[in-house]
Amino acid sequence: MTLPLMGFEKAFREKARLAVLEQLPPDQLLWRSDSETEADLFGHNRRDLRKSKGSVPEDSISVPKAYIELMKAVLCHSDPERFHLLYHALWRLQAERHLLQDRSSRLISRLQNMAKSVRRDCHKMTAFVRFREISNAQTGPRAFHAWFEPDHWIIERAGPFFANRFGDMDWIIETPKGCAQLHDGALSFSKDVPQPHVPEDETGELWNTYYLNIFNPARLKVKAMQSEMPKKYWRNMPETALIPEMIATAQSRSEAMQREAATQPPFRAERLRSMMQQREELENAKANQQIAAGGLDDLKLRASGCTRCPLHCNATQTVFGEGPADAELMLVGEQPGDREDLAGRPFVGPAGQLLDRLMQEAGIDRERAYLTNAVKHFKFEPRGKRRIHKNPSKAEITHCKWWLEAERAVIRPKAIVALGGSAALALTGRGDGILKRRGTVERLPDGTPVLITFHPSAILRMTGAASQTAQQDMLSDLRSALRVLTAPASA
Ligand code: URA
Repeated sequence: MTLPLMGFEKAFREKARLAVLEQLPPDQLLWRSDSETEADLFGHNRRDLRKSKGSVPEDSISVPKAYIELMKAVLCHSDPERFHLLYHALWRLQAERHLLQDRSSRLISRLQNMAKSVRRDCHKMTAFVRFREISNAQTGPRAFHAWFEPDHWIIERAGPFFANRFGDMDWIIETPKGCAQLHDGALSFSKDVPQPHVPEDETGELWNTYYLNIFNPARLKVKAMQSEMPKKYWRNMPETALIPEMIATAQSRSEAMQREAATQPPFRAERLRSMMQQREELENAKANQQIAAGGLDDLKLRASGCTRCPLHCNATQTVFGEGPADAELMLVGEQPGDREDLAGRPFVGPAGQLLDRLMQEAGIDRERAYLTNAVKHFKFEPRGKRRIHKNPSKAEITHCKWWLEAERAVIRPKAIVALGGSAALALTGRGDGILKRRGTVERLPDGTPVLITFHPSAILRMTGAASQTAQQDMLSDLRSALRVLTAPASA
């Protein structure tokens, strides 16, 4: 059966519906449009459908909605087999309702690829059509002309897009596969147009200026550009004449752009950043003032009910810091151990005894120092009747840092000793490399010196000479801390 070049969707639907109703299998039909003059390869096996008397009702057969969409696109394809393939699918859909979802079907995958190619062609047409003015200044309104060479029969599909976009002018788009025209707001289509002679006009210049301005030489990707704008479209697009030159000079233009680029953040951004910083500092200072005003007792009371992390669930109590509020030296451990958890005081177990001895040898009076921990609750794993110490996680240390900072705000120590990795992490933000960092002094953002040393529990786990050496090292570190305390404050 023969379909008209224009309006073939309506014709195909009508005839295909009729053919299905007449139970005509796909191989008994020959489809072609009046644009296609191919020989009827299987014509002798097929028969032309008899002329329908009147139209067949739309709902005489039913198909999934997705078929209609697929059909609308595929009908525009330039492959002469498109009608046969579509009818084949329609025929099978009568018995196989889920055919369109069958990913293994070669028929469906071919139809989908055809639809995709049509959609791409339409997209290219909407992007690459270039109008030239053909108005006659003395007479009628402004009129425009464009010549485009699509791969498929898409003029009727794409026409409404242009009517919508350029509805306020008269125009004609001619292609080797039909022509669309908008005159006085009415869109019409016709077939068979030769390529006319199109005069150059200033709209070409306009396109060039526009294209030169949107082209960013620093982002040039020749392959991507050619796949987006295939060369076959170039000859009808005025701006493409500029492309070779633009590619050739892209590198030097992009280098020039870099040389001229602003290196300073804009003034406004800088002002905002500094305003935000000032506000943060003010809020911190206010919070610290409030804490300091409440004093250590208030802080300790509040910490006794702390539920910031789940460690409070199993621990006996919060073990808060201990020492005078005007202590010049603060020592920070990791977390209370079994004995501290029961006693409610820091460093009263074996690690505390070792620390006491070393502090004494170093000449530090425990009564005058402030001892606390990075984490205020004992973290352990029950094993029989024993509670085995577990290292606190980074998140637990971070949650508990609030209390440590509050203690710092009240006491404002001149120097701090970080005993081990967890304390170093809580204070400096880094808990690694204690062996390399021990004996060194690091500074907190407010300038407070932090001396890093071993944790006494780590020394208790050592034996023989290693333990002796570590004790000597820790002793020397505590002495250094004392020296830091007595050293004149640096500017
Ligand atoms: N270990 C610590 O880190 N702190 C204590 O209070 C006891 C042991």
